[in-house]
Amino acid sequence: MTILLIKIKELFQVREHTSEALRGNAMNNVPSIKNAFLYIEDGKIKDYGPMSDLQPHAISEVVDCSDSIIIPGYVDSHTHTVFAQTRESEFSDRIHGLTYEEIAARGGGILNSAAALASKSEDILFEDALERIMKLVRLGTTTLEIKSGYGLTLDAELKMLRVIGRLKEAFSDEAKDITITNGARLTIKSTLLGAHAIPTEYKDNREGYLNLIIDEMIPQAAAAGLADFIDVFCEANYFTTHEMLRIIEAGSAFGMRAKVHVNQFNSIGAVPAAVKAGVLSVDHLEVMEPADLTALSGSKTIATALPSCSFFLGIPYAPVNKMIDNDIAVALASDYNPGSTPSGNMNFVFSLACIQMKMTPERALNALTVNAAHALGLQDEVGSVTVGKQANLLFFKDVDNLALIPYSFGTSLISRVMVQGVFIN
Ligand code: NIG
Ligand code: FE
Repeated sequence: MTILLIKIKELFQVREHTSEALRGNAMNNVPSIKNAFLYIEDGKIKDYGPMSDLQPHAISEVVDCSDSIIIPGYVDSHTHTVFAQTRESEFSDRIHGLTYEEIAARGGGILNSAAALASKSEDILFEDALERIMKLVRLGTTTLEIKSGYGLTLDAELKMLRVIGRLKEAFSDEAKDITITNGARLTIKSTLLGAHAIPTEYKDNREGYLNLIIDEMIPQAAAAGLADFIDVFCEANYFTTHEMLRIIEAGSAFGMRAKVHVNQFNSIGAVPAAVKAGVLSVDHLEVMEPADLTALSGSKTIATALPSCSFFLGIPYAPVNKMIDNDIAVALASDYNPGSTPSGNMNFVFSLACIQMKMTPERALNALTVNAAHALGLQDEVGSVTVGKQANLLFFKDVDNLALIPYSFGTSLISRVMVQGVFIN
């Protein structure tokens, strides 16, 4: 199957190599080609360039794109897309003045989601998540990470990971039934987040829960091939920096690299410790002390900001420009979850990044694509227009420039989505 896109008004994020994440000044520019062509074979980018360089190709379909600009699909490297139900009663509580932390201290929050998930079947969780993902794809998400973390028992964490495994299969090349995903193929990565909260029954036995994660959840998830990454919510009243390090080490023994929740409400030494431990990404970062910036500066760890969470909870935004000025590789993700971010819309993340965090559209797009791919170890597969990468493309009809996309907050200007060479209806 071959497709040739011709006369693309402007093709953004064309890069020969993306083996290094973009840090510091390298985030300032998005390379592009005007009046471009793009040749796709078997779902992968085979060739691209200015129309003047177009060589004859064997083609089964030609698409005239003279009315459209094209960017790579969004890579959402941090989500909790599998969950049992929404939490709008807490939303009301917050409107009436309670904070996210106060709600959690009363036994709500993550523990609420865990209680709801316990009684839901794997089939229902799968179907609900599938429906959510189909909506996200239409909004431009073409690569996705999903965490467990609403199980908080061995069985329920494995149940969540199996649901994510089924989603991976449903969106893969080997999918048994392609009708349920409308033919969409999507790379999905799974993360074990057993350390999302201390379950009530372990309130006075933290060590017992830590042991359950380290001795049972991690080895069993690994044995079943269910987790690509390990995660910890390192925060006051959740997991300490020392506990985070123990879990990172345990995961690493089973080949799971770490992506951790840190500095959402407090800076408790987690960033320097995580960077030293060589984690793939540190996520949230709403509260950053100078020592946190110093630790990340020049490191290989990706700093992932989640502005939709800041928007929804009314907490500070991660100081992304300061990070970039400190030679840090910044990525952006949605954090889609029922408690702190009930939206997985990456167009809105793009808008918040520019409007609230004052990122330029170029910095934000680099954070949503190339650096987000690095945050999943998928830099050779997705995140840019590069020969050999997946043909994941977002088409914007009657749009002339990048800035109009985040400018148009609250709407999606995407006219067509292509995932691995297939147009999604
Ligand atoms: O990334 N902060 C920790 N975890 C999620 C929220 C989980 C929840 O409230 O359900 C987050 O914001
Ligand atoms: Fe999260």
